Amino acid sequence: MTTCSAPGKVYLFGEHAVVYGEPAVPCAIERRARVTVEPREDGRVRVDAADLSLDGFTVTWGESIDDRPDIDVPAPLVEAAMEYIEAAVAQARDAAGAPDAGFDIAVESAIPLGAGLGSSAAVVVAGIDAATRALGTELDAEAVARRAYRAEHEVQDGQASRADTYCSAMGGAVRVEGEDTRTIDAPALPFVVGYDGGAGDTGELVAGVRALREEHEFAADTVETVGDLTREGERLLGDADPDSEPDDALLADLGELMEFNHGLLSALGVSARSLDAMVWAAREAGARGAKLTGAGGGGCIVALDPDPGSQRALEFSTECEQAFRAELATEGVRVEEP
Ligand code: MEV
Repeated sequence: MTTCSAPGKVYLFGEHAVVYGEPAVPCAIERRARVTVEPREDGRVRVDAADLSLDGFTVTWGESIDDRPDIDVPAPLVEAAMEYIEAAVAQARDAAGAPDAGFDIAVESAIPLGAGLGSSAAVVVAGIDAATRALGTELDAEAVARRAYRAEHEVQDGQASRADTYCSAMGGAVRVEGEDTRTIDAPALPFVVGYDGGAGDTGELVAGVRALREEHEFAADTVETVGDLTREGERLLGDADPDSEPDDALLADLGELMEFNHGLLSALGVSARSLDAMVWAAREAGARGAKLTGAGGGGCIVALDPDPGSQRALEFSTECEQAFRAELATEGVRVEEP
C-alpha cells in the first residue's frame, strides 16, 4: 500500500491569463489531497473517495471506474473528479510500463472540489506518484508534474496550463509561463481563504475568456495587463527576504496588485456575486488585497491579511460558508504513512 499527498494552491496572480502564455504565480497551501494505492491482480480500478469537499462525503466506486456513485453532491463535480483519477491511472500505467495494472485507490481531500484551490491537480499529482510507486517506479516531482499536466490537459480538452499541476507537485510559490516552469522564493504570505460553498465550471469559464479575447481587442489587452501585473508582483517577491515575515510595505504593494487582478478577472467575466461580496468583506475588514482564485464563477477568494480581521469578517459574511487561514505549503508531493 502506498500513500502520497499533494497540496492545493491559491493564485497570487495570473489565472486565466496563464492559459494564453502570460506568467502566473500560484502558491501551494497546506490543504492536501491524500491518495492511497494498492495494486490489484485483476486489472480493475476501484476508487473510494472521502471528504472530497469541506463538508465531506463518501463515495464508493463499484467494480469499474464507470459505475455511478450514490452521493448528494453535484454529479458533474464527482464525474470530473473521477475523470481526473482515470487520467492519473493512465499516466501511472504508462510511466511504470504496466498497461494492464489494476488498483484499489482511496482518495481523501481537504480541498473543496472545483472551488479554485487546485483540488483536481492535487488528486492527479498525488495519484500519479502513489500509483507509480506502488508499481515499483519512482518519478521525481518534476516528472510527476509533467505527467499530471498531461492528465489535466486531456481531461480539460487541451485548455489547461501547467500552473496548477506544477505548483501542487513542487510546493511553495512557483512561476509558470507557457512551458517555462520554476519554483521561486517567497516569504510566508498571510493568506486567508473564503469559500462560498460552491464551484465554477473551469472548462466553461476558460472558454468564456477565450471567446471574449477573440472578440474584443480590449479583452486581449486585459489578459496582457494581467501578465504585466504578475511580472510586477514577481519583482516584488524577488526583492523580498524569503526568510523574514513580509513587511507592511510588501503586503500593501502585493495587495494592490491583487486588487487590480481581481478587477481584471471580473472584467473578463469570471467573478461572481458571492466572490465579489467576499472580496469586499475582506477589503473592508483590512485585508491588504483580495481576489478570486482559480477559474472563478464561484468557490474561493484569497485575501492577504496578517491580522484576524478578514477571516472574522468572512466568517460573518452571508456569502461565505467557510473561512480559514492557509499556510504556504513548502513541500509539494510527498510520500505519507498509509
Ligand atoms: C484554473 O485553476 C486556472 C486556470 O488558469 C486554468 C489553467 O491554468 O489551466 C483558469
